[in-house]
Amino acid sequence: MLKVITTVAAMKRFSENARQKGRTIGFVPTMGYLHKGHMALIEKAVRECDTVVVSIYVNPTQFGPKEDLKKYPRDFSRDKKMLARAGVGTIFYPSTRQMYPDGYATYINVEGLSDVLCGSSRPGHFKGVATIVAKLFNIVIPHRAYFGQKDYQQQLIIRKLVKDLDLGIKVITVPTIREKDGLAMSSRNSYLSPLERKNAAVIIRSMRFADQLVMSGVKSPHRIREAVIKMLRTVKELKIDYVAICDTNSLEQRKIIKGKTLIAVAVFIGNTRLIDNIIVR
Ligand code: PAF
Repeated sequence: MLKVITTVAAMKRFSENARQKGRTIGFVPTMGYLHKGHMALIEKAVRECDTVVVSIYVNPTQFGPKEDLKKYPRDFSRDKKMLARAGVGTIFYPSTRQMYPDGYATYINVEGLSDVLCGSSRPGHFKGVATIVAKLFNIVIPHRAYFGQKDYQQQLIIRKLVKDLDLGIKVITVPTIREKDGLAMSSRNSYLSPLERKNAAVIIRSMRFADQLVMSGVKSPHRIREAVIKMLRTVKELKIDYVAICDTNSLEQRKIIKGKTLIAVAVFIGNTRLIDNIIVR
């Protein structure tokens, strides 16, 4: 039976109890409005752990003042049905009162990694992510936590947070799940008009083209970046936020393509900001 827990105290009690019984706790933090990308993380957690907790919480501290916090899509009853079908045991569904009570004042900042790519276009975003994830880790006390590769920078920051704060949680990154035309699954895809949705496939097309260039021996990040930008620009309504070609661990811009390299893209299609990435070798 799927249990919904809404308070920090009850969630902690549940997890402490499960741990005492020697059960491994798998944790998938989400902001709800679940799609196949989330379900891939959740199904993996269900396969690998004795008990799985999925949190659903749209975290206000990771949204900028001009971002989509209010209109972020929500559908708890649909999410709940999907989680029941997937065999999840527990949903942690707290209110903002529970997570950030009056007078809340403590934030976590993972320096360096948080300042580049999405961090430079969304100042404070990763401080909000690191803070909520650290809090959720303290409340859910998982053994294993699952994140999607689509948010590549986020999973890197969480890994660093876990290492630096000695949290002893195994972080697992699950490959991006894509629509038929290659668009990465995202709750924000629901904002796209039919035409924008069609145009959004240019993101993965441009990165696959970059992959082909690398495979054919092109070693200049500059050339690859230019090729990606040129392809993205074929869509008029698209605005490029960044196209980055960087080290998969430090996120530093590569001077030459060598070994594993991350190609990461962020664009606006209309008002919707979409991100995606691939790793080329
Ligand atoms: O990836 C997300 O949905 C969010 O950033 C997360 C990890 C649930 C924290 O709010």
